[in-house]
Amino acid sequence: MLLEKIETLLKEVSELKASNAEELEQLRLKYLSKKGEISLLMNDFRSVPADQKKVVGMKINELKQTATQKINDLREQFAEAEATSDNIDLTRSAYPISLGTRHPLTIVTNEIIDIFQRMGFTLTTGPEIDDDLHVFTKLNFAADHPARDMQDTFFIEQSKLNDVTKNILLRSHTSGDQSHYMEKHEAPIRIICPGRVYRNEAISARAHCFFHQVEGLYVDKNVSFTDLKQVLLTFAREMFGEDTKIRLRPSYFPFTEPSAEMDISCHICGGKGCGFCKHTGWVEILGCGMVDPNVLEACGIDSKVYTGYAFGMGVERITNLKYRVSDLRMFSENDTRFLKEFEAAN
Ligand code: PHE
Repeated sequence: MLLEKIETLLKEVSELKASNAEELEQLRLKYLSKKGEISLLMNDFRSVPADQKKVVGMKINELKQTATQKINDLREQFAEAEATSDNIDLTRSAYPISLGTRHPLTIVTNEIIDIFQRMGFTLTTGPEIDDDLHVFTKLNFAADHPARDMQDTFFIEQSKLNDVTKNILLRSHTSGDQSHYMEKHEAPIRIICPGRVYRNEAISARAHCFFHQVEGLYVDKNVSFTDLKQVLLTFAREMFGEDTKIRLRPSYFPFTEPSAEMDISCHICGGKGCGFCKHTGWVEILGCGMVDPNVLEACGIDSKVYTGYAFGMGVERITNLKYRVSDLRMFSENDTRFLKEFEAAN
């Protein structure tokens, strides 16, 4: 009789369930307290014949252990559930979360864009993967221009669509954005286009296979070289300070005529001459010129009515001047110790 009762209880406790801590406490009282089921069994145990005491005693022990174990398990489950619920200690001090910083090239690009937007330029961007038509042909590059060579430009593949063969490539300058924009928009046009460009160069402290440029284009009636010079002077002063001087040297680009390269007085030595400016007092920061009429025509703009200027500047060079970064590779290594240095400029 007693053994049967114990078996029934054993089955009961191994299936115990409680949905909250209070229910659990009730179960503990019911089975394990001094007046609980198991203690009551001890009273019956006294009247068990001596030869059965061992078997019955062991069974009672098993029951007690099972009940204790079960109740402890349930208690642990509640503790876990409570820790992940909204019962959170809000007074505990927080773990420090380290915030990221803007990349120096982003900081400088944003600054350049901001200056030109204040002068009425509209922000736009073109594709990094482009074709030779937009990057070279429409920009008046001769068929045998060295930039069309695999050694200078990364060519990806040839695609053939409606019998037209296109060479797909990674753009080697942002000037391709000019042809894309002029194709789709009528003059007057006044745009600024930042972006990454790629050239097939060996990576060193002074050269990289990708870098960043900001392109500018203005097409309207009666646009002259004077307008270009004034806009660039204003930009240089906004970027590097009121005392900054500019100088324009004659140069050549297939898509501008006349063309020039612009130097600014060295921001590092103030024009006196230092290692950075190779002791000349001047640093080149951009190429520019009047848009070649062939380019306007190739992009569907009447060159008898409209004229325009364009310029393209290197963001790394400008960032180096502002922040004196000596090795170009640092811009793409993502070493957080380097990036953290720009925290204050964010
Ligand atoms: N695209 C030229 C370069 O990559 C820069 C440039 C842009 C020159 C616009 C003139 C006009 O060097």
